[in-house]
Amino acid sequence: MVVFSPSILAADFTRLGEQITRVDEAGAEFIHIDVMDGAFVPNISFGFPIIKAIRPLTKKVFDVHLMVEEPARYIDEFIATGADIITIHYEADRHIDRTISYIKSKGIKAGISLNPATPVELIKHLISKLDMVLIMSVNPGFGGQKFIDYSLEKIKEVKELSEKYNPELLIEVDGGIDKSNIKKVVDSGANVIVAGSSVFNGDNIENNLMELRRVL
Ligand code: DX5
Ligand code: ZN
Repeated sequence: MVVFSPSILAADFTRLGEQITRVDEAGAEFIHIDVMDGAFVPNISFGFPIIKAIRPLTKKVFDVHLMVEEPARYIDEFIATGADIITIHYEADRHIDRTISYIKSKGIKAGISLNPATPVELIKHLISKLDMVLIMSVNPGFGGQKFIDYSLEKIKEVKELSEKYNPELLIEVDGGIDKSNIKKVVDSGANVIVAGSSVFNGDNIENNLMELRRVL
């Protein structure tokens, strides 16, 4: 089964609540929430007050992607806002094993994200304790970028590790996914698809999601 996690970074923020209700009713399983701190990535998105405000709008899984330096500083607050899965970047945390254990000790799902140039091999020993691996298929920081093709190789590598050490692992892919490449992403082993522009584009949420599912 393929899970959809529309990224609200691409939503129309003047109507954020309404658009979240629409992705929920259109059948998206997760809501992907991109938090950017202007340090780990060259952009700032949104933080706690927004997440708190939208939490009551849906029961869907809040899939929180932290593009933040030293994310360990903020785990408690993200849990308090209602995160269901917290994903932190390998590159942003020197003590990532500790932070992952901490997230899990709070009863929340934990994920690690890898930038395009970061090898999968680096998290081999952590695979068995993770709920999710997030392969970035663009350099994080902005929506609407072009899919980087070598990510497909990395998805296959995560899939192999998952078969060996953690068959339940969620394998999420994020960045530049649209109708033209979604099938390749899923065939490579992804089971959670993040899509921003290709879902919210043209305020055509329902059709866009349907089209993405149809080509699978
Ligand atoms: C990029 C974010 C993505 C982004 C995806 O840094 O992590 O989640 O919103 O947007 P699209 O699907 O437009 O590439
Ligand atoms: Zn993201």
